[in-house]
Amino acid sequence: MPQTHAIYAHTGEDVLSSVFQQLDVDDDRLFNITMTFLHEMWDGLNNYGHDMAMIPTFVRSIPDGSEKGTFLALDLGGTNLRVCEVNLHGDKTFSLRQQKYKVSDALKTGEATTLFDYLADSVDAFLTDSGSPNCALPPSLARRNLAEVSDEEDVPYIPLGLTFSFPVEQTALDSGKLLTWTKGFAAKNAIGNDVVKLLQDAFDRKNMHVRCVALVNDTVGALLSRAYTSGGCILGAIFGTGTNGAYVEDMASISKLGRSAAVKEGNLMVVNTEWGGFNNSRSALPSTPYDNKVDRESINPGKQAFEKFISGMYLGEITRNVIVSLIDAAPKPLLFSGHSSKQLNKQWGVDTAVLSEVEEAWEGIGRFAPEDTGSTAEKLEHIRDVIIKRMELPPDSVSLNDADVVRKICTHIAWRAARLSSCAVAAVLFQTGRARLTRGGEETKNTAPLVDEGKRIGVGVDGSLVEHYPYFEKKLRASLRVLVGEDVERRVDIGLAKDGSGVGAALCALVAYRQNMVKQYHTVYEHEVANGVTESRGAEHSAYPDSLART
Ligand code: GLC
Repeated sequence: MPQTHAIYAHTGEDVLSSVFQQLDVDDDRLFNITMTFLHEMWDGLNNYGHDMAMIPTFVRSIPDGSEKGTFLALDLGGTNLRVCEVNLHGDKTFSLRQQKYKVSDALKTGEATTLFDYLADSVDAFLTDSGSPNCALPPSLARRNLAEVSDEEDVPYIPLGLTFSFPVEQTALDSGKLLTWTKGFAAKNAIGNDVVKLLQDAFDRKNMHVRCVALVNDTVGALLSRAYTSGGCILGAIFGTGTNGAYVEDMASISKLGRSAAVKEGNLMVVNTEWGGFNNSRSALPSTPYDNKVDRESINPGKQAFEKFISGMYLGEITRNVIVSLIDAAPKPLLFSGHSSKQLNKQWGVDTAVLSEVEEAWEGIGRFAPEDTGSTAEKLEHIRDVIIKRMELPPDSVSLNDADVVRKICTHIAWRAARLSSCAVAAVLFQTGRARLTRGGEETKNTAPLVDEGKRIGVGVDGSLVEHYPYFEKKLRASLRVLVGEDVERRVDIGLAKDGSGVGAALCALVAYRQNMVKQYHTVYEHEVANGVTESRGAEHSAYPDSLART
């Protein structure tokens, strides 16, 4: 496999301007990408089997901040695995205790049962370390009663919400089949299986009284948690290791659900778009040789095309490809006097955090603050230091001019990611009737009144890029303004859904738990009465914790 995409041109300037030009996405292109995005959204809403899967999540109501209860949540899909206990206070606030666990490459690519056993072990370790859980068990279901309940079926359980951030075709709030792995995961014998069952089987193998009652994607978690803390949200989006969005859709538009029972039960449903898989044909996306190389050498070539332009897992690798091609440029190297390093030659050798650091040095923020001090030469000195350290290059091979070239490459790649991200947000705003699209400053013909005209439009976001990459949101907003106009862009209230995965899973677990509580309550109550533990009491007396008594 070729290591680089060496390039040849008459002058160094020609090469650099051609590279930067390839990485630019002009406004017309943005508009066209957004239109293609909308078409793929409609395809996914109409039929199963599309790469942009538009998955109905069976989440039919949006929290308003009054929800209460304490739940366990397990979150797999980002850089770490997390187990948390989330306490929803019912006043838009929450508290959370969590423990992170590493997921090794061996676990990511080994047998699925080994991975799910590890998840169960992590939950077990969390429960053991943190003592008795304060989870949503009514007093009558506390652990001391376990021994008294004879029928295994009736044994009380600790309800857990699973945030599983991969494409899963849900069939209910608590079940769904894994469609494909993304983000470097490839565990065997998982695709096509119900992930809730895989997890539950692992709990059961270990005789743990934990039941997975709800399954959510991290985007759905971001949406629900932002709605909980801010009083309203229509889109949850992740810009982190991967990228994806979930939004509140009109049931009537999800035609692939046909006349199923779900359709009769409400008029809205959260849809997980799986927009990372947008335009896998790359007919609309601005692919360069550097992107093609990332894709070809990835674990999932031909898949997750949009994600590979945007997310934290790939930006460093695109940058590395550009850098290496400039080192190898002919007839004269254009970077580092033709020197490379082990780190630079290695796939994934440049982390997206390096781009972040380069930009921070340039902007004079983060550890390079305050921004008003420092000449251009000083800033380039800082960037040079970052390059030497993070790319493990000999100091005398990196000039200030090299630092400037690398800085421009990083900026172009990050700008492109933010601009492409804005297409997804604009498409959701258009699809939900909250925006008209503009092209060349002109609104497309559409006279229908806008939904929520003049009102705030809540968007919850999470992920390392949006949280840490300098000015990612600002860049996204600048392009969004081009696509939907200033009035709508200004009303888009983008807020960090910090801990969205945990809080979202807890909120979903609450919904599922309320549905199951009635059954649980009657079983245990009847058992207690039969054994004289409890006197018969009026139906109005509830064993639910106050917070859960409301249904
Ligand atoms: C990937 C996953 C998706 C997830 C996103 C962000 O795109 O397929 O389910 O939401 O990453 O973590």
